[in-house]
Amino acid sequence: MNDTFLKACRGEKTDYTPIWIMRQAGRYLPQYLEVRARGKGTFLDLCKDPARCTEVTLQPVDIFGMDAAILFSDILIPMEAMGLTLEFHEGKGPVFPDPIREQRDVDGLIIPDPEETMPFVLATIKLLRAELKVPLIGFSGAPFTLATYLIEGGSSKVFLETKKMMFRQPQLYHALLEKITRCTSLYLQAQARAGAQTLQIFDSWAGILAPCDYARFALPYVQTIISDLRRTTDVPIIYFANNGATLIEHTSTCGADVLGLDWRINIKDGVARVGDHAVQGNLDPLALFLPEKELQNRVRKLIDDARGARGHIFNLGHGVVPQTPPEQVKIVVDCVHEYSARG
Ligand code: CP3
Repeated sequence: MNDTFLKACRGEKTDYTPIWIMRQAGRYLPQYLEVRARGKGTFLDLCKDPARCTEVTLQPVDIFGMDAAILFSDILIPMEAMGLTLEFHEGKGPVFPDPIREQRDVDGLIIPDPEETMPFVLATIKLLRAELKVPLIGFSGAPFTLATYLIEGGSSKVFLETKKMMFRQPQLYHALLEKITRCTSLYLQAQARAGAQTLQIFDSWAGILAPCDYARFALPYVQTIISDLRRTTDVPIIYFANNGATLIEHTSTCGADVLGLDWRINIKDGVARVGDHAVQGNLDPLALFLPEKELQNRVRKLIDDARGARGHIFNLGHGVVPQTPPEQVKIVVDCVHEYSARG
């Protein structure tokens, strides 16, 4: 078993910098598109099919030599288990046709037992652990990010409904977030029991909040989940707040082992500000469109800039985009491995 990634998460010395990339199993890979088409069903059907989820999770590890695998699923799966209707519309992303706006909507949400309602996720984890020679990352959304989808009814640009609820009905907002937090906490604990060796919490929309609102309306729920996890498992925890450079003073108190950084901050500044944490990141996903030599120079500079970190896991600053040529991903993985091993 290659445990370089786990060592870096824990801040232990490694022979080279480990790499995986967010959304590494996905539409930029023809092999993924082939498996997705094979089942005929929707994206959600794929998420509920452990055999195909296992296959697509393994693809980037086999093709590029990634140092960790991330479970193939979606952050919104447990929201469906809470009793909501979830659809994925082509070109539009996730849609909740019945958004959460009132007390009775919150009252209607259930706290699902993950073993009963999401057995396919736990089955995928078990299948993967039997196959993998690198660590398996389980994941969830952070409560604030999940709440934005539930309140808006899908993706959003200005988050009007979410902020309206926060500012005008803070008790309703809090009741909703408490339920999402409880669900997420149980869900991540179940993933660790099933065999996930690291857990990443995605806070994709944290960056739309003013720091004072982040501290009040997002961070406490992440802290609750992480302190629950600390009582039940010792797997490393990664917290990724996208667009979070302005929030580091807060995010660094969330309790995670590793802080994920997006590309809008120089990693050197990030390292200086995260305190005693390992860091993960943070190449601009669109830097993958640079010519080979320039791409390699960017990668080497990033590795040098992160040398002072307690641990560095190389990653992109957010998910790889579907238009990315897979050869470019290979260039990055090889460059990280070769250059960082030279010391
Ligand atoms: O390798 C991996 O990371 C695959 C597993 C994974 C998916 N989604 C598969 C997926 C993970 C870790 C996620 C996380 C996720 N899902 C996040 C957090 C990370 C981020 O990007 O900020 C969010 C916000 C979602 C919600 C979501 N799922 C959206 C907004 C969309 C539509 C937009 C998009 O990127 O397509 C999805 C769909 C989705 N999730 C796809 C995949 C592979 C595309 C579906 C398809 O195959 O058609």
